[in-house]
Amino acid sequence: MSERQIPFVDPVVEAEELQEVQNVIKSKWLVEGKVARTLEKEFQEFTGTKFAMTTANGTVALHLAMEAVGINPGDEVITTPFTFIASANSISFVGGVPIFVDIDPQTWNIDPEKIKKAITPKTKAILPVHIFGLPANMPEILEIAEEHGLIVIEDAAQAHGARINGKHVGGFGDVGCFSFYATKNMIAGEGGMVVTNNDELRDKLDSLKNHGRPKQGGYSHLRIGFNYRTTDLCAAVALAQLRKLPSLLERREKNAEMLRATIDELEFLTYQQVPRGFQHANYVFAVKTRTKQEIDALIEFLREKNVLSRRIYSVLAYQQPAYRDISKWRWAKCVDYPDYTNISLPIAEEVAVTHAEVPIVPTLTREEIERVGEALQEWEKAKAR
Ligand SMILES: Cc1ncc(COP(=O)(O)O)c(C=O)c1O
Repeated sequence: MSERQIPFVDPVVEAEELQEVQNVIKSKWLVEGKVARTLEKEFQEFTGTKFAMTTANGTVALHLAMEAVGINPGDEVITTPFTFIASANSISFVGGVPIFVDIDPQTWNIDPEKIKKAITPKTKAILPVHIFGLPANMPEILEIAEEHGLIVIEDAAQAHGARINGKHVGGFGDVGCFSFYATKNMIAGEGGMVVTNNDELRDKLDSLKNHGRPKQGGYSHLRIGFNYRTTDLCAAVALAQLRKLPSLLERREKNAEMLRATIDELEFLTYQQVPRGFQHANYVFAVKTRTKQEIDALIEFLREKNVLSRRIYSVLAYQQPAYRDISKWRWAKCVDYPDYTNISLPIAEEVAVTHAEVPIVPTLTREEIERVGEALQEWEKAKAR
């Protein structure tokens, strides 16, 4: 029997999801309703936050967060360029100015020292991203924020299950945003969640999500808002996923631990280092080579061994055409943007072109994860020859 190609994405969608969706269909209530409320309640419990609010996806969760905390045109928001574009775009939607700073070479997350250096009188907020599921350095980021009176919005889109000293990410800052996109640790096809511990922000987020309506609903519109609601169909899938999330995370952790142990001694391959007390949610396990040529060769080497892998953010946010050509963006008429073509962040630029995701998804058998580890070892051996 030929070996299967070992995938880096393999959703675990089973009878439980089907049952929840069937219940929704039978109820005939397809729009956001009771199932979404149950999902919020259970997500609050899972993350230990006071409030959780469903959204249509993670991008609009971030947009709502920017609106709710009051990021205004011209306000600078310090963030990482080593992320999915939605992080930066959420700042840009509201006329905010993304200020990109470099990442830490060990964790690949935003470097707090670089945040400090980027603060100006226009700085309003910090947007850390828990990249690949590893928490950003929230204790230091919160300290900086407090010292300078800055808002903190956490992009936790990739970090369901990530914790620092037992506390779940998303609840450190003023607002935290999650995604349930089809590849994430828990999925709904499309979907998202905003969490906060702040009552006032919660009410504002809820109203903004729903055309600016007050809590009790009706046709009064207190502010200009959006329709960023989910549906009970998506919430049903997410609810079944949330209930199995602890076991999915356990399997991801086991797989990641096995890989770490296998490649720890290798000289030419490195990976994200997990600081003491930090719990990686293991959304993505990425290895890093010394050069771009090496990562290309490694991806090909793995493919020949039926192990799928890919580069993820090989183009940083400020290197994307949307930011290189920022003068074309609507807000450029009234807001001063930096010249993004002039930015150079050496660590992020290096990691961008030398990393690749390798499989650790929960469906892998022990033999398969061993095959991934052995393939990486073999590549190193061939290199050393
Ligand atoms: C870091 C990051 N931020 C934001 C998002 C946006 O989430 P969504 O795709 O649900 O809109 C994603 C995911 O795709 C992400 O990975």
